[in-house]
Amino acid sequence: MTRKILVTGGTGFIGSHTCVELIAGGYQVLVLDNLSNSRETVLDAIEQISGARPGFIRGDIRDRALLDSIFKQHDIGAVIHFAGLKAVGESVARPLDYHDNNVAGTVTLLQAMQQAGVRSLVFSSSATVYGDPQQLPIPEDHPLSATNPYGHTKLVLEEIMGQLSRSEPGWRIALLRYFNPVGAHPSGLIGEAPQGVPNNLMPYVAQVASGQRERVQVFGQDYDTPDGTGVRDYIHVMDLAQGHVAALRYLQDNEPELLAVNLGTGRGYSVLEMIQAFARSSGRDIPYTIAPRRPGDIAACWADTRLAREKLGWTAVRDIQEMCDDAWRWQARQS
Ligand code: NAD
Ligand code: UFG
Repeated sequence: MTRKILVTGGTGFIGSHTCVELIAGGYQVLVLDNLSNSRETVLDAIEQISGARPGFIRGDIRDRALLDSIFKQHDIGAVIHFAGLKAVGESVARPLDYHDNNVAGTVTLLQAMQQAGVRSLVFSSSATVYGDPQQLPIPEDHPLSATNPYGHTKLVLEEIMGQLSRSEPGWRIALLRYFNPVGAHPSGLIGEAPQGVPNNLMPYVAQVASGQRERVQVFGQDYDTPDGTGVRDYIHVMDLAQGHVAALRYLQDNEPELLAVNLGTGRGYSVLEMIQAFARSSGRDIPYTIAPRRPGDIAACWADTRLAREKLGWTAVRDIQEMCDDAWRWQARQS
């Protein structure tokens, strides 16, 4: 019998796309999600795209008894752990919720894995662990720091996983440091569905293009970048999803290891370039105004992608136009 992959947060944005790629790769998928930031109907869309429906358990990663029963009832070979809270501003306002959900929740998951003898884990980390970059592109051995409680949870969790793998050498852990995930599945059936006003640039731009919001506020045009606006390494969520499958395969095929690896494209684009690309994809005008810098933002950030290529044999292949085309196809189906 094929062992299952437990995907926590599997109905969320990145998790749902990864489920599609896991199924395409021949894996059996079991999703655990408390639906705090997603909907169960995502499973219908995953089934429509891939022809197979993941198993689903509605529940919380902080529920140890539930986790123990999942590991007892299912033959789990590895865990891909997406579940967590991710809004930087909210984390500043409600730090304890972030430490409880992200840190305590992950520690509970690790304890349940340890007890069940499941020691393969792919973890959603973030480029936020690099703080304000001292060099570009950013290599994995760049110094780590956190500028907000959300980032701190990722940093602490990376450290906890380092301590765990040193104390028990059987663990195989991939810490995947995502840059800026955007886009959607090309079918337009799954995508990013933020609740309320989007915090991130691309969902906001998509809602302006669709007429739900009036104009984009460009946070700062006085950065030391070619056009003065912030530069980021936007990565198509389907490339990211394939990066998870590559990481899983790597862990399965190699000796136990703790691997921290960037998932990005290695290229940065400015806010204005992204707005222009989205205008081309949507054929809509995207009005914007220049606003003050957003507190805590950095000027520019893009990944050194060599380690992912060498270790995982993975590189991102989709460009920003494809990211915007696919995001627009998803957006146009909303409302
Ligand atoms: P998302 O909110 O769409 O998905 C997270 C999922 O986890 C949601 O479905 C939510 O309902 C679920 N969840 C939250 N807390 C839970 C809990 N305690 N128990 C069970 N389920 C829970 O977010 P996403 O964009 O898909 O992000 C996935 C992961 O990637 C997160 O850990 C996030 O911090 C990390 N990440 C995201 C980005 C990004 O820009 N999207 C960048 C870097 C890292
Ligand atoms: N921006 C705007 N207007 C907006 C929103 C964003 O101009 O309405 C700008 C920002 O100032 C920044 C760029 O668009 O220059 C990207 O901002 P996002 O909020 O989309 O993304 P960030 O790079 O700030 O942060 C994201 C995730 C974090 C993660 C980080 C690194 O939100 O969780 O990428 O992976 F840590």
